[in-house]
Amino acid sequence: MTQQGLFLTLEGVDGAGKSTHIPFMKQVLQDHNIPVVVTREPGGTPLGESLRELLLQQPMRLKTECLLMFAARNEHTQTRIIPALKKGQWVLCDRYTDASYAYQGGGRALGAEQIRVLEQWVHAGLQPNRTWLFDVPLELARQRMLNTRVLDRFEKEDVEFFIRTQQAYYDRVHQDPQRFYMVDASKDIPTIQKQLKTELIELIENWRNAHT
Ligand code: TMP
Repeated sequence: MTQQGLFLTLEGVDGAGKSTHIPFMKQVLQDHNIPVVVTREPGGTPLGESLRELLLQQPMRLKTECLLMFAARNEHTQTRIIPALKKGQWVLCDRYTDASYAYQGGGRALGAEQIRVLEQWVHAGLQPNRTWLFDVPLELARQRMLNTRVLDRFEKEDVEFFIRTQQAYYDRVHQDPQRFYMVDASKDIPTIQKQLKTELIELIENWRNAHT
């Protein structure tokens, strides 16, 4: 029987720099002959990418935003993530449900309970095996955003929004500390890559040992 792949996610406030590291992480996995699917949320499927456009640009009610995040997630989980994991592929995903707890639950102050209900409905029994939380001072995150791109609907939010978002991420870590790797995202890229590589190699070794 094929051994199930690992489901790995990256999280952090906008401007934390997590997406920069995905090609590097993919390369480390491939260098160790791990088949990997790289994907993102919101997005990851044709429908999910269309919903992403709406979510990042179009003003909408909070519950609508939250439901669309989970609608995109349902497509993604059922049609890409679960099939890949079952085939023994690893899935490296830029954000998943922790982002809903952080942004909708925390930033938009919806609270964790509503998110939990949707999480149970959409992907009960599926959690990332490991999550890297890119942790960065909010002022630095803002500078990076302003220097590198045109801001979307989330990135335009005020500092209070991001304080609540970041706090909700910390709450997630507190509730499930074994799942998270903390990354000091104010460090330079080579230092962060060194950490990521070490952690990935450890995961690969443990995964292979569990198989033999
Ligand atoms: P990205 O910039 O990491 O690609 O993510 C797009 C934005 O979507 C980012 O500002 C965070 C937001 N988001 C949520 O608000 N809730 C979610 O569940 C997800 C996955 C992303």
